[in-house]
Amino acid sequence: SQHRLLIKGGRVVNDDGTTFADVFIEEGIIKQVGLNLIIPGGTKTIDATDKLVMPGGIDTHTHLELAFMGTRAADDFYTGTKAAIAGGTTTILDFVIPTKEQSLIDAYNQWRERADSKICCDYGLHVAITHWDEQVGKDMEILTKEKGVNSFKVFMAYPGTFMLADDDIYQVFAKCRELGAIAMVHAENGSVIKELEKEMSKLGITGPEGHLLSRPEKLEAEATNRAIMIAEQTRCPLYVVHVMSKTAADKIQEARLKGQVVFGEPIAASLGTDGSQYFNKCWHHAAAHVMSPPLRNDATTAPYLMDLLANGSLSTTGTDHCTFNINQKALGKDDFRKIPNGVNGIEERLAVVWTKGVETGKLDINQFVAVTSSNAARIFNIYPKKGRIAVGSDADCLIWDPKATKTISASSHHQACDFNIFEGLHCRGLPIITIVDGKIVYDNGQLNVLQGSGKYLHTACYADSVYQKLNKREIIREQLIKQQHIEREPYTGDVIVIS
Ligand code: URP
Ligand code: ZN
Ligand code: ZN
Ligand code: ZN
Repeated sequence: SQHRLLIKGGRVVNDDGTTFADVFIEEGIIKQVGLNLIIPGGTKTIDATDKLVMPGGIDTHTHLELAFMGTRAADDFYTGTKAAIAGGTTTILDFVIPTKEQSLIDAYNQWRERADSKICCDYGLHVAITHWDEQVGKDMEILTKEKGVNSFKVFMAYPGTFMLADDDIYQVFAKCRELGAIAMVHAENGSVIKELEKEMSKLGITGPEGHLLSRPEKLEAEATNRAIMIAEQTRCPLYVVHVMSKTAADKIQEARLKGQVVFGEPIAASLGTDGSQYFNKCWHHAAAHVMSPPLRNDATTAPYLMDLLANGSLSTTGTDHCTFNINQKALGKDDFRKIPNGVNGIEERLAVVWTKGVETGKLDINQFVAVTSSNAARIFNIYPKKGRIAVGSDADCLIWDPKATKTISASSHHQACDFNIFEGLHCRGLPIITIVDGKIVYDNGQLNVLQGSGKYLHTACYADSVYQKLNKREIIREQLIKQQHIEREPYTGDVIVIS
């Protein structure tokens, strides 16, 4: 029956090793891993000969049914997670983004309500901080202590709606540090972008190429560097979302080499396509690729980001899945600034990373598991419940066929949106079976998902590990500062007041 499964004859792949082993699952949990297992009767057997058995993918970055730029993302928690499952992702981390008037708790509740009724796989929530005051700090504390949130994101772009200035970012990061949460950042210099956008319209550039031209790579690198600096000053761990360029990735690598706790997340789009798409003669094709920060217009960025995933400088892969149909993108048909920002990837991420990473020889299969699943589970503190094939872990698993191929197309994808930025990409390496909560929900092209069956993941803040390291540094830092205190004779002369 469905509540007992035996995956037989496969190679079990974790981030730290590979073994030939069978996997026995009961009531949604992995109960045995090994050879010659003693299995109760009535267990359904899956033959995994010549296949890999891996932990399901964790998509660290989604925006399902997000209200954004005057419209709402086309994929909701149902279609989005259905597509995720078809592509081998079994956990998503979505962003709660409060409106300016909304309290964090209100927004969080709204997200929970929307997701719980539709979602087909387990999910966690990051919460974006779009303004700062004392109350926000208190709400952050409630979210971490009572609502299972351990990650907060700030935007350095989107002035007027989401953008925070450096002093407010400092406050948010300091609060994260105090709570044991991780700070996340959308790193782009929003103020300079706004000026460059004005310049584009002065020059008569109104098409999607203007989106790229008004968001140069330097602005991403500068903001990434600034966020790293603020994280360093507040002694807070930092996670940089959607790393889109070589120079931004370099900043993360440099900080890590100096021992700072910083993580970088390239996305399916930045690994699988590039910014030459903004110059496509077809307006809707170019507009479909509009996202922020933009895809870079060269053939070297994607392989560079993959190299940095391979050497450990970048840690995870997300998607920033935030899809809009062609007629929604058309809100910006006369002005690229009004094109809703966002691209797809929730279904394609694993196949893209395998094709561009493993097939090219850059990643081994264990690193593949690390960057698609285990690292995310560790960073967001859901490991080894998620991100590992081991006794006691949740039975979210993939049967992966390294030889299976397909060509990505909007005509066959499972997403609600009508465009696919990876159209025509030939992939090798695909999930053939996806297991969520011990149930086969995807089997050789057939989906069998249950709307609303996914569960919310309470993620705990960090009490030690990362923080112990940070605490030690904090003590050293305070000692160094105090050593520079100087005993002086007080000034006793006159003070001149000019009125
Ligand atoms: O263009 C993007 N990235 N849209 C989604 C919102 C965000 O900035 O992550
Ligand atoms: Zn963003
Ligand atoms: Zn077209
Ligand atoms: Zn995003």
